[in-house]
Amino acid sequence: MQLFVDTANLDEIREAAEMGVISGVTTNPTLLAKNGSGDVESVIKEICQLVPGSVSMECVSEDAKGMVTEGRKFAQWGENVYVKVPFTVEGVKATRVFTDEGIRTNVTLVFSANQALLAANAGATYISSFVGRVDDIGYDGINIIEQIVSLRDMHDFDSHVLAASIRHPLHVVQSAEAGADIATIPFKVLKQMYYHPLTEKGVAAFKADWEKLQGSCATTV
Ligand code: E4P
Repeated sequence: MQLFVDTANLDEIREAAEMGVISGVTTNPTLLAKNGSGDVESVIKEICQLVPGSVSMECVSEDAKGMVTEGRKFAQWGENVYVKVPFTVEGVKATRVFTDEGIRTNVTLVFSANQALLAANAGATYISSFVGRVDDIGYDGINIIEQIVSLRDMHDFDSHVLAASIRHPLHVVQSAEAGADIATIPFKVLKQMYYHPLTEKGVAAFKADWEKLQGSCATTV
């Protein structure tokens, strides 16, 4: 399963890129607004320089025509820009246009297997199924990922299943176990994935023993 970072914060993206484990970036209007820069085009272009993998940039128009105009423009910003399209009737129409034009898409705000089937039939490159937001309302977001993956495998459609709205490291493991192709992860969760108390303890113990050894060598000499 590939790991994307779910942020529009350039410092976070820079640090994530240096970690060497990230294959893409997903943004959305909320994340771009948090980043604070109104010059979205420059931000996305810079992200494309920092991360060679896919960079998702979301349409905000409500009708297919508007989304297509926006998406065509976004696709000019970098070779690795994927146009993020909200899952609506209009969004699916726009996805079909993008597919036919060879523009790669990330259909977002997917919350059910039926929605995923529709997105797949419009040729979506990625289908972003939101885990955390489903959990938030008392249902099982991972279960929906499992359903989508099983339908994808059974019917052999080409779309990649992307686990989005990840809230904690366990969601990442569960998405991988469910067979998601990609998980897009907030930077904070990405850092949490590294942490294990026994690793910290082990590193400290090895360092202390190494220093003792150096001390004893110095004494013998
Ligand atoms: C990513 O593509 C989604 O926009 C994002 O994961 C949504 O996450 P949230 O539910 O934490 O806002």
